[in-house]
Amino acid sequence: MIKTVGQLGELRARVARWKRDGLRVGLVPTMGNLHAGHYSLVELARRHADRVVASVFVNPTQFGPGEDFDRYPRTPDEDAAGLESAGCDLLWLPPVEAMYPFGPGNAVQVRVPGVTGVLEGARRPGHFDGVATVVSRLFNQVQPDVAAFGRKDYQQLAVVRYMVRDLAFPIELLAGETVREADGLAMSSRNRYLSPAERAAAPEIHRTLHAMREGVRAGQAMREVEAGAAERLAAAGFDVDYAIVRTHELAEPVPGHRGDLVALVAARLGSTRLIDNLEFSNAADGS
Ligand code: PAF
Repeated sequence: MIKTVGQLGELRARVARWKRDGLRVGLVPTMGNLHAGHYSLVELARRHADRVVASVFVNPTQFGPGEDFDRYPRTPDEDAAGLESAGCDLLWLPPVEAMYPFGPGNAVQVRVPGVTGVLEGARRPGHFDGVATVVSRLFNQVQPDVAAFGRKDYQQLAVVRYMVRDLAFPIELLAGETVREADGLAMSSRNRYLSPAERAAAPEIHRTLHAMREGVRAGQAMREVEAGAAERLAAAGFDVDYAIVRTHELAEPVPGHRGDLVALVAARLGSTRLIDNLEFSNAADGS
């Protein structure tokens, strides 16, 4: 069984030993209930490091009031077994006191400006403060050389990139491709909340993202593309938060923009909120 550590001193001692031996250390931060998307991040980290640590911590500071902190799925035994099969070397499973010695409400916070003010940040106030706060702690605790995050959480990746650069963490960030079910639904721990009918409707997000890409590439106005996507999702039973096209820096593209873009959707099916995105280019050379 994979070695599991719940004490910061023991984590530090193990990582220090690896580093003394000249080994590169990778980190995959997670909130558990792991699926193939997480395991692909472990494999990605493995390709860039000699030892891989995965953390499992359901972080209270990134959940808002009324969000799903209490019901967030916790599956520690399955996670440990899956991490071992994926080639992970160590599971860091901190109790809340190890992550927040003065309690989550008294934690020193890391607040990333700019990129957190839109999309998920605008709809989930405080969410990215919680993410940046816990990820900075994980970086200090594990002191990895590389850390892997999924592209499905597009804005989270942008927030972590900003933080790493601004706070000069000596860590190389790796971005893992979104792993999908056979019908296109992006893997997510929250998919298990979906009823059978909702699960059948959920891949419409992926199809809509592709339709958005085709619309933009065909020269349709962005606003038309976005309105068409929102209508399409609403017709499939979604309560749409946003269906938009942005530049890779999450700015609104100027009319006639050519180059890298990302289509992003956040929408609710019943009480389950799903997010997904598709990065693409509408460069004149078709690349
Ligand atoms: O993406 C997640 O699972 C979480 O936001 C993270 C990065 C582990 C921080 O709690």
